[in-house]
Amino acid sequence: MITLFTPLKLGALNVPNRIFMAPLTRCRAGDAHIPNELMAKYYVQRASAGLIIAEATMAIEGNSAFWQEPGIYSAEQITGWKCVTDKVHAADGKIFLQIWHGGRACHPLLNRGAQPVAPSPIAITNDGVRTPEGKKPYVIPRELRDDELPGIVSGFRKAAQNAKAAGFDGIEIHGANGYLLDEFLRDGANKRTGPYGGSVENRARLTLEVLEAVSSVWGNDRVGLRISPLNSYNE
Ligand SMILES: Cc1cc2nc3c(=O)[nH]c(=O)nc-3n(C[C@H](O)[C@H](O)[C@H](O)COP(=O)(O)O)c2cc1C
Repeated sequence: MITLFTPLKLGALNVPNRIFMAPLTRCRAGDAHIPNELMAKYYVQRASAGLIIAEATMAIEGNSAFWQEPGIYSAEQITGWKCVTDKVHAADGKIFLQIWHGGRACHPLLNRGAQPVAPSPIAITNDGVRTPEGKKPYVIPRELRDDELPGIVSGFRKAAQNAKAAGFDGIEIHGANGYLLDEFLRDGANKRTGPYGGSVENRARLTLEVLEAVSSVWGNDRVGLRISPLNSYNE
């Protein structure tokens, strides 16, 4: 009989049980977005899960959508995450990193005044962003040019390499919940013409390019993709 406690082969991974921890943003990484002792303690406390998927982590600098969420673009962040993965492994746990671009959910107050980027210049109108100055409305993002998209793909590739250096067991690409990749997937947020807009194939292009790039680093048996077609969060 298969139970929650029956081991499972998940791609290249053998996990001891079927209880997985969903990625949960905790905003504990400080202003430089560097993982720390508190985060290591939090993940070690959960290391008996078959697999932990660590919280949404900025692949590319300057795309903060929450105050003090972690990143994986600097040497200090790699070192901070290595401390987390070493401790989770010492407790016999397994941990993937969720890598992410916040797209139009980012805010200038979290990114030194920089306007967020997105497939089309359409703001999120429900809810708002928590910033050091309180909750603020989302702003209208700048439409990414097609020639900027290879830079986004290579940013995800570099983040995947950094996650490897930080000792993770694999990667989850965040293609869910109304952030950049999901914004490209959705016809409500993506009004582009050209290779990245219009048809389903075109709207999926950026996500598939990111998937290829990350898989080229990790092998496709250690890479997951989270999507959320039924979730209306972030419009
Ligand atoms: C505080 C909080 C933080 C979350 N952070 C993330 C995140 O970083 N990445 C992500 O993909 N989902 C995130 N989620 C969504 C959860 O992973 C999960 O999908 C959600 O709580 C609903 O649970 P369910 O999917 O089991 O229905 C977050 C949810 C909450 C409540």
